Amino acid sequence: MSTRREFLGAAAAGSGLASSLLAAQTREHKPPSANNKIQVALIGCGGMGQGDAHTSVSTGLTQIVAACDCYDGRLQHMKELYGADIFTTKDYQEVLTRPEVDAVIIGTPDHWHQKITIDALNAKKDVYCEKPMVQHIEDGLAVVEAQRRTNRILQIGSQRVSSIVYKKAQDLFRSGAIGKLNMVEAWYDRNSAIGAWEYTIPPDASTETCDWTRFQGRAPRVEWDPKRFFRWRCYRDYGTGVAGDLFVHLFSGLHFITGALGPTRVFATGGLRFWKDGRDVPDVLTGLYDYPESSGHPAFNLIMRTNFVSGARENQGFRFTGTEGIMTVGSNVTITNPPPQTQPGYTIDTFSEAGQKAYLKLYHSRYPEMRPSATGMKASHEQTFDPPGGYSDHYDHHLNFALAVRSRKPVVEDAVFGFRAAAPALLSNVSYFEDRVVTWDPKTMKSQA
Ligand SMILES: NC(=O)c1ccc[n+]([C@@H]2O[C@H](COP(=O)([O-])OP(=O)(O)OC[C@H]3O[C@@H](n4cnc5c(N)ncnc54)[C@H](O)[C@@H]3O)[C@@H](O)[C@H]2O)c1
Repeated sequence: MSTRREFLGAAAAGSGLASSLLAAQTREHKPPSANNKIQVALIGCGGMGQGDAHTSVSTGLTQIVAACDCYDGRLQHMKELYGADIFTTKDYQEVLTRPEVDAVIIGTPDHWHQKITIDALNAKKDVYCEKPMVQHIEDGLAVVEAQRRTNRILQIGSQRVSSIVYKKAQDLFRSGAIGKLNMVEAWYDRNSAIGAWEYTIPPDASTETCDWTRFQGRAPRVEWDPKRFFRWRCYRDYGTGVAGDLFVHLFSGLHFITGALGPTRVFATGGLRFWKDGRDVPDVLTGLYDYPESSGHPAFNLIMRTNFVSGARENQGFRFTGTEGIMTVGSNVTITNPPPQTQPGYTIDTFSEAGQKAYLKLYHSRYPEMRPSATGMKASHEQTFDPPGGYSDHYDHHLNFALAVRSRKPVVEDAVFGFRAAAPALLSNVSYFEDRVVTWDPKTMKSQA
C-alpha cells in the first residue's frame, strides 16, 4: 500500500500540478527547482516555525532551502535538520532577495507578522504566516491590501480551517442539525507552566548568540532580557496575550463552521491571577461577543474564555446551541438532539381546585391522557463523529498551501479570513486594557465610531 505522501506525489505529477508550477515559474522567469519542489525559506525558526517546516516538507511538495532567525542555536539546528548547505541569516531581507525562494513560512513573534508578510508579498514570494495575522487591529487592512495588489498566495496559519473535524461540523451546521443557532460557548484552557508560556531559555542565551536589536523590531527598545526573547508571549510589546495566541484559533474555527464574519460588539474582562512572573498580560480572560444575523441564522452571542489556572486538564472546544440541538466540537464532533416535545405541559397548582379541574379537562381534550409505555418512549439522539487516529489538521493546512502555490487557486485562509479571525481577538485586548466595550464592522473590517 502506498503511503499518503507517495500518493500525493503521484497525484500531483499525474494531475498536471507539476507542469502548472513550471508554467507559473516560467511566467516569473524563475528556473524551476531540480526536483520540482516548492522552495521554502523559514523566517522565525522557533517552536512553531520548525513545526511548520517539518509539516510542510512532510507533504512531499516542498523543501527547505533557507532559514532566518535571531538566535544562533536555532539556525544551527535548521542546518542539522535540513543540511549544512541551506542558506542561513539573521536578516530576513536577505532571504527575500534570493531568487530560488518561492515561498516563505513566517514563524516569528506576532509583532513582526505584518511587516515581514508585506515585504515578502512585495518581493513576489508566496507566504504562509502564523496566526494571529497581525499584532494590532490597525495593522490588518495593509496586509489585505498587499495580498490583493500583489496577487500572491497568502495562507494564515490557523490550521483548524483545514480540519476534517471542522469541515464535518460545518456540514452538520449547514444541514440544520441543531436548527437555528442562538449561543456559542468556546474555551481554551491550560494548566501547566509550559502551557502558560514559561518556555526553556537556552544556557547560551546572550547578546552574542541572540540579535536582540533585530528581534525587537518596531517594539519599544529595552535592555537585553532573555525572558523577553524566549518568552515573548508574556509581553504586550511582542505578543497578543491569550486572545491573540488562543482566542484566534477559536474565532477561525467559529467563522469557518458558521460562515459568520465577526462580531459587532466586544467586551473582555479577566486578570493576571497566577503566573506573576513579570508578564504584563492576563492569564484568565473571558470575552463576550455580539454576532449579527448572517447566513440565515439569527443574531447569536458568543462567550469565549482562556484560563491558564485551570484545575481541569488542558482542553479546548466549542458548544453550539441551536433551537433543535447542541453541537460540541473539539477533537471530534457530537450532535445531541433532545426528543421533540409533544406536549407543552402546564402550571396550574396555584389555581382553585375548580380552576385546575377545568383546565385539565381542556388540556386532555387536546392531549389525551396516556399511560407511560415502552413503545411510547422516545430515543434521544446523540451522534459522535471521530477523525481517524493520528489525523493532523496541520498537515492538511500545509498541503492546502502547497497545492495553492502550485495551482494559484485560493487558499482556505487568506488575508481577509485571517484578519476577520484575528480582529475580535485583538479587539478583546483593546477592551480589556482600555476597560470599554468595543464596536466593530466585520464586513468593512473597520472599527465603528
Ligand atoms: N498555529 C499554531 O497552532 C501555533 C502554535 C504555536 C505558535 N504559533 C504562532 O507561531 C509564531 C511563533 O511562535 P513560537 O512559539 O514558534 O515562538 P518562538 O519564540 O519559539 O520562535 C520565534 C522565533 O522567531 C525569531 N525571530 C524574532 N524576530 C525575528 C525576525 N525579525 N526575523 C527572523 N526571526 C525572528 C526568534 O528568534 C525565535 O526563534 C507566533 O506568532 C505564534 O502565535 C502558532
